[in-house]
Amino acid sequence: MAAESEMVEDQILSDVHVTAIRSGISRGYEKGLQSLSRFVVNYQAGERREERMKEESKKDSQDDINAMTDIDGDLVLTRKHKAKDVITIAHAMQTNLQDVGMQVWMGCLLLCNFILNNCPRFENSTVLELGGGTGLASVVMATTAKYVICTDTGKDVLEMCERNVIANKDIYNRRGHELERLVIVRALDWMDSDIQTDESIPFSWSQKDLQLLSDVDVIIAADVVYSNDLTDAFFTKLLTLMKTGKQKTCFITTERRLNFTMTDLDVTCKEYDHFREWLKRLETTSDYRIKQLDSDVPQFIQYPQSRYLELWQIQQISSAHLVPTS
Ligand SMILES: C[S@@+](CC[C@H](N)C(=O)[O-])C[C@H]1O[C@@H](n2cnc3c(N)ncnc32)[C@H](O)[C@@H]1O
Repeated sequence: MAAESEMVEDQILSDVHVTAIRSGISRGYEKGLQSLSRFVVNYQAGERREERMKEESKKDSQDDINAMTDIDGDLVLTRKHKAKDVITIAHAMQTNLQDVGMQVWMGCLLLCNFILNNCPRFENSTVLELGGGTGLASVVMATTAKYVICTDTGKDVLEMCERNVIANKDIYNRRGHELERLVIVRALDWMDSDIQTDESIPFSWSQKDLQLLSDVDVIIAADVVYSNDLTDAFFTKLLTLMKTGKQKTCFITTERRLNFTMTDLDVTCKEYDHFREWLKRLETTSDYRIKQLDSDVPQFIQYPQSRYLELWQIQQISSAHLVPTS
């Protein structure tokens, strides 16, 4: 989590909040410890700039053709494609460890930029996000993917996430999908072996949702490595999910938070080392290919780049052991 100097008692101050002023994120209002931040997705940034500009000029000339009259003689105008989207996310600026999902983390911004740089890769995907927190990465993913299931645990986190998902529906609904078909928010606790299917409980899974889960081919997770027990639970859940339904690829972002400890008399990050041990273990099974991807990606959403932010891909290469879902 944030450096010790940024902690107030057992409260953890959001890195994204601290750096918001330096980055492209602007804050709408602040009330108590709650904030509403605007994440500007600037499509003219990064590698897609040229491609997009070409697309826009093509659209502009198409617009000229379309700027015609209808049968009543009224002018018919086609709306120009926006060069920017603004995703507005409600989040907490400071929480206890239990509620860190109510903050937006740097790993989430890296994940968003990775998605925005690779839209065609996700176009036909059904995506599951683990530990989705405020829902920002799921909203970004929904601008390109077919379906997104954003999951987390805890009533407050899930409610905030769902509010954010609904509030940004115009961003990802542009293609005319029905909201309820495109992004859903569901409870999924890595510590629980079962998925909640009692529909009287909020954020539980219907049969239709479970069907969607079996279609998942991409799993994403941002900033979920910060406690070894949770990392163990996360990987155990991830492997269970990967063994069912379709062959999957998982993208995980993590921040290597270095600390000096008196025990080691050195600067270390034991949580990161534990995460790397898991990756090594998976690689030796030969069912998975592990690859570190370049985290220095063009920034559609701006934030201060850090060499401690990493992006990992876990690709399932053997489907021989897959257990069919009923
Ligand atoms: C550091 S936050 C990252 C949130 C978000 N992905 C982001 O990067 O902004 C870690 C996330 O993992 C979730 N989490 C922690 N323990 C969990 C568990 N047992 N099951 C599911 N999610 C959990 C938290 O609620 C939180 O949303």
